[in-house]
Amino acid sequence: MTKRGLFILFEGADRVGKSTQVQSLTNHISNSRNLPTKSLRFPDRTTPIGQILNQYLQNSTNMDDRALHLLFSSNRWEAKDSILELLNSGTNIVVDRYSYSGVAYTAAKGIDVDWCYSCESGLPEPDIVFYLSMSTEDATKRGDYGGERYEKRPSWKVINANRTVEEVSNEINQIFDFEFESLQKKPIGTLK
Ligand code: TYD
Ligand code: MG
Repeated sequence: MTKRGLFILFEGADRVGKSTQVQSLTNHISNSRNLPTKSLRFPDRTTPIGQILNQYLQNSTNMDDRALHLLFSSNRWEAKDSILELLNSGTNIVVDRYSYSGVAYTAAKGIDVDWCYSCESGLPEPDIVFYLSMSTEDATKRGDYGGERYEKRPSWKVINANRTVEEVSNEINQIFDFEFESLQKKPIGTLK
């Protein structure tokens, strides 16, 4: 029987090195375990909803804060079935940004955090979240990152990203290797 894939998520501010580490962990999983592994990112700008988000992000459109939030959230909902298919067929996914970015960016505009999070309830839940942090100050502000109460279920690892690419990826690989087998035995979770 094929074991399920893991859902690994990277979160963190712009330019902390998420895409480099997503690529590095994707390679580590495929090379060290010879397992199918795919990297994904949100927003996924390739879908019709993603194209609207792309226009917004390139400053060519204005949008109501909640309307924008719902589009970012829809962009995850439209990926839900394919995420579950990948995981159930044994493919690991390494994802650059997900619901916690969605909550953090909208809540930072003063929108109620519970309202923000409610749009995410029911989506597939990551198995591990690597939070790439550039300073200890950022790490202590982590509560802002979607609200602490929401971080209880998946395992959050705060990674000091203010080091060389290799130092950061070595730590991430070690954590992944340590947690891999036990996480694979758990059923796929759902965001509450
Ligand atoms: P991203 O594609 O990671 O930016 P970049 O092109 O710089 O790598 O994300 C684009 C922006 O969208 C980023 O500033 C974070 C924001 N964002 C939200 O506001 N809500 C969301 O749900 C997501 C996933 C991202
Ligand atoms: Mg990015």
